[in-house]
Amino acid sequence: MLRRLHHDQPASFAFTPANLAWAQGQITKYPEGRQASAIIPLLWRAQEQEGWLTRPAIEYVADMLGMAYIRALEVATFYFMFQLSPVGSVAHVQVCGATSCMICGAEELIAVCREKIAPKAHQLSPDGRFTWEEVECMGACANAPMAQIGKDYYEDLTAEKLRALIDRFAAGEVPVPGPQNGRYASEPVTGLTSLKEFDSGRTQYNASAQAAVDLKDTVRRIDGTEVPLRTPWLGQAAAPARTRAPRKAKAAAKTTKD
Ligand code: FES
Repeated sequence: MLRRLHHDQPASFAFTPANLAWAQGQITKYPEGRQASAIIPLLWRAQEQEGWLTRPAIEYVADMLGMAYIRALEVATFYFMFQLSPVGSVAHVQVCGATSCMICGAEELIAVCREKIAPKAHQLSPDGRFTWEEVECMGACANAPMAQIGKDYYEDLTAEKLRALIDRFAAGEVPVPGPQNGRYASEPVTGLTSLKEFDSGRTQYNASAQAAVDLKDTVRRIDGTEVPLRTPWLGQAAAPARTRAPRKAKAAAKTTKD
């Protein structure tokens, strides 16, 4: 599939101060002259901040890493995890349409997205709050069918359950991720059949759902203040700036049309 930059772009991009400090810290993980290795985490953080990857953001990150824009663009357009068009202000729903999920009802989930969000993938809902797309296997096949909403997995879905989840997100809630049919994780729905001695001392949620509950960042835009910056290899709390300052002229570029 051809992946292009969106035709409508914002005028500029800049990391928030905390995201900038985080990005500079990431860059120091790599040897001198190899800063370009930080391209994926920096593009990802730009997307976490804005919801999608804009052209000014790609150029800003390329400037930070001393890379040609085309090389940063190659990375951004290669990986499907990078959203190249605006996503819903509340949530972007990624429905797995691969084999296990398809057998277990992914097409019904996609029908819900078409009905409740927009007829086509990557199209904003009329109120601009939701978008959706079909994606390949997300590695949660034992909990098929599933969808990633924001950052987290909602598993063991049915059309009704997905409909209800979208309604709850629309109402400002963030439903607990993980299995939606009462399963703890990916054990048999009727309970464990082996290794039962390990079936004790459970937390309320499995580790992944618990992390989502603790971090509360499922559909949240990230500004870098959510968790403390950790750069122990620098022997200090925050990383020093040893990167190029993004070119102001580019960052402030006027709205561009593709
Ligand atoms: S097929 Fe859907 S998660 Fe693997």
